[in-house]
Amino acid sequence: MTSKVWIRPAEPSDLGVVQDLLTACGLPTEGLKETRLFVLEIDGRLGGTVGYEARGPYALLRSLAVEPLLRGRGYGRRLLRFAIEEVTALGFRAAYGLTTTIPDWLHRLGFIEVPRERLPAELIESAELRGACCANARAFVLRLRDDPEDGSTDVGSDVRDRVREAYGRIAEKQAGCGCGTNLLSSRTFARFIGYSDQELAVIPEEANLGLSCGNPTALAGLQAGEVLLDLGSGAGFDCFLAARQVGPSGRVLGVDMTPQMVEKARAIARRHGFSNVEFRLGEIENLPVADASVDVVISNCVINLSTDKPRVFREAYRVLKPGGRIAISDIAPLRELPRWVRGGVAAYVGCVGGAVLVDEYRQMVEAAGFRDVRVTVKGASACTDSGTRDPIGRAIYAALGLSIGSYVVSIYVEGTKPG
Ligand SMILES: C[S@@+](CC[C@H](N)C(=O)[O-])C[C@H]1O[C@@H](n2cnc3c(N)ncnc32)[C@H](O)[C@@H]1O
Repeated sequence: MTSKVWIRPAEPSDLGVVQDLLTACGLPTEGLKETRLFVLEIDGRLGGTVGYEARGPYALLRSLAVEPLLRGRGYGRRLLRFAIEEVTALGFRAAYGLTTTIPDWLHRLGFIEVPRERLPAELIESAELRGACCANARAFVLRLRDDPEDGSTDVGSDVRDRVREAYGRIAEKQAGCGCGTNLLSSRTFARFIGYSDQELAVIPEEANLGLSCGNPTALAGLQAGEVLLDLGSGAGFDCFLAARQVGPSGRVLGVDMTPQMVEKARAIARRHGFSNVEFRLGEIENLPVADASVDVVISNCVINLSTDKPRVFREAYRVLKPGGRIAISDIAPLRELPRWVRGGVAAYVGCVGGAVLVDEYRQMVEAAGFRDVRVTVKGASACTDSGTRDPIGRAIYAALGLSIGSYVVSIYVEGTKPG
């Protein structure tokens, strides 16, 4: 029989059990009156708790505890995600957490470590820090929106490293979302964004990480014998499909800057005997590909992640043969996103933060020299569809009261290099 598990606000009658649980877990019980508490109920029994103290524009996450006998079933992560979504939806500027035991979880959720002496003054006054919390706990922060006082964002000069780290973790299956959605299975998601069952049947299942936002091979009109280049090839999803279409006389190159992705794609190619596909480690702004050597350049949900998009298109132009073409699937906002939505690393890695407006996209492609440029808006971005659990999507709903579909869309971009 399946258990009924849900998270609800704690009631006064829960307080005794919550206190016992926190004590059993070695966590402080001081300041619970100042804490908004939630409890996880399993078949009517209280199995875990989480809470936050509201400290001005910041939320201090605390009191995360799961009954010892119920550990190892994902309840702790579920409680933590719930609390993050809650404080995101409420518009807090950042969520802080102190821990001795779960720094890895926090890293995976996008938190970064901060020295305790750099914690905002509002937090120093919190019940947890006023003395309750152990001196050796490490402090972490997850920025939820821009800090208007210092105007800074999390997306700094090291953005490429952050993107690489995030996709490295995805390749190693330590994390499950990037530009994709975490609501659907990767196969269902692929159908939803434009892949037919026949196409999916020829792509090795392991190459589908659910990170795409359209089907660029469907645009590309591939012919047997052609040479194709995939920018940001990930685990090789589109490369393997294209490899069948260009056949043994054709060739497919995938370029990706994340070593774990390239290794994964190469291993899949070996396992499934793809002899006309090659994966190269490299940046799409500096392609490790010869001039005028490629018939078609495709890309799927990647260029929005580049910190120098005009250069990506100049590079694509350089490597294409005269008369060659681009067929790109990507994400673009229809109108300017609020700065605090664009600003976080999670938004950047999630393919929203770095995306440029549809019109700007077209201009960039034309400026690189492409002709007959066509940008087609496919529809609402599958990255953050309605009912999303993605904190970025939820934050947009909460702040703007609008569906993200009216803000961020999937697009197809086509163009040719003059012959
Ligand atoms: C959202 S995933 C898409 C992967 C693949 N195209 C797919 O549809 O499954 C983005 C990929 O682009 C890669 N990437 C991001 N920025 C890049 C850059 N500047 N140069 C090369 N690869 C990049 C990442 O490592 C990641 O594998």
